[in-house]
Amino acid sequence: MLDSLDGTISLIAPAKINLALHVTGRRSDGYHLLDSLVVFARFGDRVSVKRSAADTFEMSGTFGSRLPDDEDNLVLQARNALRRRFPEQAIPVAIHLEKYLPIASGIGGGSSDAAATLRALAALWRVEADVAQLAEIGLPLGADVPMCLQGRPLVAKGIGEDIERLAAFPHLPMVLANSGVSISTPQVFAVLERRDNPPLPEMPDLFTVGDVCTYLAETGNHLFSAAEKLTPAIGDTMNALQNTTPRLVRMSGSGGTCFAIYDSDADAEAAAAKLKQSNPDWFVVATNSVMEGD
Ligand code: C5P
Repeated sequence: MLDSLDGTISLIAPAKINLALHVTGRRSDGYHLLDSLVVFARFGDRVSVKRSAADTFEMSGTFGSRLPDDEDNLVLQARNALRRRFPEQAIPVAIHLEKYLPIASGIGGGSSDAAATLRALAALWRVEADVAQLAEIGLPLGADVPMCLQGRPLVAKGIGEDIERLAAFPHLPMVLANSGVSISTPQVFAVLERRDNPPLPEMPDLFTVGDVCTYLAETGNHLFSAAEKLTPAIGDTMNALQNTTPRLVRMSGSGGTCFAIYDSDADAEAAAAKLKQSNPDWFVVATNSVMEGD
């Protein structure tokens, strides 16, 4: 958390990557039960907050013009939810969202922005709220908010709120790619063919990129077929990544952002450069994952 001289608190809202995502059931309220191995990229949006005479909100960045700046925005929903819980401390605040993650793209942008807003405002307003309390406040805003509050490798169960952090997990050199498709998560869940899949297999300690890829080969993303049926262009993104000879290619979340894992950061950077050259309009980023203790 960056705390500058003028009192601005600034946080990265990292991309969330579902390395594996199994759909294991459905709750009576319609939400799906998941079992997902999740990491966070070093790349993401940025949320900055500082005290102000009145509440303000501005957006910038590559995708900043594609989002509503009204109360539908998850950043403002997060501010409002925290203020309702701590009305006395919640002084007016200027919030700036720099948006670099594509919208509705399976890498948790909205949930990650909400989580970063909760953390930044909890610090600015000096509220006594631990991560568990922030998760409870954030869960109604998005099922991925609790995991985004962690920002470290984890396994998420339930609808995403039942979280176990993984102490030993390596950096994963990765490329994230999206050809410009936005996908509605509820629509993907609605056209799922199977909702009663087995959970993730038992996970041994994973120390190297090779260990992770060997484990991931036994898993999948159960939302992929449904997402590809709705948006066949995802197949092109998967193929383009596959052509860069990575260790593994998969879609994250409900899509359409796909990721590939490489042996080294240099391999990931070379693959991203190649992909960007042949697809200049795509969102393509070489990054790696945040580790416990980073
Ligand atoms: O909570 P979030 O905004 O991420 O989810 C969007 C929609 O995706 C939900 O309203 C629900 O229809 C569906 N969903 C689900 N099961 C989950 C997460 C999301 O069915 N675990």
